[in-house]
Amino acid sequence: MKMRVTLVVGCAVIGLLLGYWLLAMPQLSQVAISDTPVAIARGEYLISAGGCVSCHAGSVDSSSMSGGLALVSEFGTFYVPNITPHPETGIGGWQAKDFLLAMRHGRSPDGGYYYPAFPYRSYAGLSDQDILDMAAYLVSLPPVESQVPPHELPFWLFRWMMAVWNLIADFLQSDFESLSDPAQLRGAYLARHLGHCGECHTPRNVLGMSVLTQEFAGATMGEGHVEALNSEALRGWTEEDFAFFLFLGMKPDGDYVGGKMEPVIEHNTSRLTEEDRQALAAFFKRQI
Ligand code: HEC
Ligand code: HEC
Repeated sequence: MKMRVTLVVGCAVIGLLLGYWLLAMPQLSQVAISDTPVAIARGEYLISAGGCVSCHAGSVDSSSMSGGLALVSEFGTFYVPNITPHPETGIGGWQAKDFLLAMRHGRSPDGGYYYPAFPYRSYAGLSDQDILDMAAYLVSLPPVESQVPPHELPFWLFRWMMAVWNLIADFLQSDFESLSDPAQLRGAYLARHLGHCGECHTPRNVLGMSVLTQEFAGATMGEGHVEALNSEALRGWTEEDFAFFLFLGMKPDGDYVGGKMEPVIEHNTSRLTEEDRQALAAFFKRQI
């Protein structure tokens, strides 16, 4: 009898510790959001380079970040939230740590988990400074009142499951080769993190996780195919072709790109500096 009680209590303690470890909030350094024009201008550029507008532009007022777009996926329909600083329907009152938690860890201010329909695993590699400057820009925007509908998801899908999903994805993570060329390094940062090119161009496993051992090997999206961006696929492209494509969406054969790549060109890559487009080209055309 006594042994049974000890066993039950022991299991409960281990269960609690495991739960605590799994659900604990990451520790963050104390930082603040800047309101200087320099930080806001930098943030505006990074929000473009991060392709945030492609998803968060308002479905009613497309000049704002008031959300509402329906992202249809095999796991259900996600409605993109309002990220203007509106106190009730947006992210009014968010502090620096809330942005770091969301972008780096996929966690909401109350400790909940975001679904990876928000590509936080790509953004996790962003520098603190870049995240804080994006925050500076977002909180400087006029608040827009817009209530976004709740996600429509299968009954068995819960936010807390993302704790386990993240653990498995961390476990499957593979190391990237080390780069030393400054342009290639900047290109890697833009491609893997800010520009999240792999979210569409890297294949996913059955759990919807990017298979990084096949980075940029091409993927399927709905019924369609997303081309590979590896050295084999880009053999016929020069660095100049690639940088020009990111500016205008025109391929070396004179065809214009379509589908889900069009908004990427329009809202993201065409707004980069020439230097950043060259950096992406240098990264994708590196010798591997
Ligand atoms: C592919 C579409 C997509 C892109 C690109 C995207 N987001 Fe989101 N974002 C979402 C979705 C969907 C959610 C809601 C996730 C959830 O409810 O779990 C979200 C949630 C958020 C939240 C939390 C909002 C809240 O109310 O809790 C913030 C902040 C945010 N995104 C900022 C950004 C920033 C900054 C960028 C660009 C660097 C960005 N997002 C790019 C789809 C996207
Ligand atoms: C939202 C998903 C998405 C994201 C993010 C994305 N792409 Fe694409 N990309 C596509 C799709 C879809 C196509 C194919 C479009 C078509 O069918 O015309 C494509 C096509 C391309 C092509 C043309 C390939 C060829 O051989 O014709 C290039 C180059 C490209 N993308 C580069 C990039 C780069 C660089 C990034 C990151 C800055 C990026 N893409 C981010 C979806 C995406």
